[in-house]
Amino acid sequence: DLSGFRSNKMLQSVSNDTFLRALKREPTDHTPVWLMRQAGRYLPEYNRIRARAGSFLALAKNPDYATEVTLQPLERYPLDAAILFSDILTIPDAMGLGLSFETGEGPRFARPLRTEADIARLAVPAIDSTLSYVTDAVTQIRRALTNANGQQRVPLIGFSGSPWTLACYMVEGGGSDNFRLVKAMLYQHPAWLHRILEINAQAVAAYLNAQIDAGAQAVMIFDTWGGALADGKFQQFSLAYTRAVIQNLKREHNGEQVPVIVFTKGGGQWLEEIAAIGAQAVGLDWTVNLAHARERVGHRVALQGNLDPTVLFASPAAIRAEVRSILDSYGDQAGHIFNLGHGILPLTPPEHVAEMVDEVHSYSRSLRVQ
Ligand code: CP3
Repeated sequence: DLSGFRSNKMLQSVSNDTFLRALKREPTDHTPVWLMRQAGRYLPEYNRIRARAGSFLALAKNPDYATEVTLQPLERYPLDAAILFSDILTIPDAMGLGLSFETGEGPRFARPLRTEADIARLAVPAIDSTLSYVTDAVTQIRRALTNANGQQRVPLIGFSGSPWTLACYMVEGGGSDNFRLVKAMLYQHPAWLHRILEINAQAVAAYLNAQIDAGAQAVMIFDTWGGALADGKFQQFSLAYTRAVIQNLKREHNGEQVPVIVFTKGGGQWLEEIAAIGAQAVGLDWTVNLAHARERVGHRVALQGNLDPTVLFASPAAIRAEVRSILDSYGDQAGHIFNLGHGILPLTPPEHVAEMVDEVHSYSRSLRVQ
């Protein structure tokens, strides 16, 4: 019975709250660090459990497996946050598009949105019936993160794709090199795309609110393909809908503010605009200089990022030097969460991640005491 747990979970104290403090731009004794895609194929223990479950979706749709996989990277490394093990494509799956992952390939939708009739049929799914496996996983992960003394080890991040990034997969029917179909729709039938984006924005807000209700202590919106859009189109077809999502989120849950992180890959040129849509933090890819980013956005938001994920294929000494260079460029001010500039790559040596995390913690501590 989780009901007692449900009612106090937001009041539960977090023994390492560095991540939440950095999101509020409060001083911390070290720079918190977590990694996009921190649970995944670079970990042998992940590959073993995936083989046992049979597929990625079998893992993601089973709260016991999702809980175990979420905790795997935390058993190996002293990370400062956990992220729900799931995927951004759960929403279009719940909308009936028929998601599958073929081994060695990316995601596939059996029923992509191609015609006006497809789009007319699209509707916001009932989150509590179609996506309860996700909210159950959130509740279970919160419980699994709780120590014997009743304290939570680290905060739990929930997430969703942005309305635009979801639309890319829903129209293309999978990944794409050039987004030919969804961008042709943008130019030829903008009203069709606006309808998809409007429905996605409502679904994403409801989905993130359900994760917050279940115990997510911060939420992140992945706008992975925002950078594929032309200037002007990005603002109209991606940013406006991400802003609408944020406006419809619970700003508070049981007295706690739930911070929002927005990550637009390739969004460097729009930083000021991204920082102005109501999120508490902006995620940066590795093409952006952190010091320049801080100058451009002022102190409105925390910044998250931005080590090039391929740095983790270099030697430990090179990894540590690149970590120090990012920490030096940010300098000793509040409001930085260390992360990669995009998801960790499958062939990354796990022991190199340990070097990275250790350098973030030890070097950022040394910067604070000077
Ligand atoms: O960060 C985390 O550890 C939480 C889990 C998470 C996954 N996907 C698990 C996953 C998160 C936050 C995502 C987000 C996601 N999913 C994004 C946005 C972030 C980004 O990386 O740009 C996107 C675009 C997707 C869509 C998606 N899911 C693709 C294109 C693929 C196949 C390609 C790939 O990277 O494997 C997935 C599958 C997926 N999602 C895996 C994992 C661990 C790999 C599945 C496997 O085990 O084979």
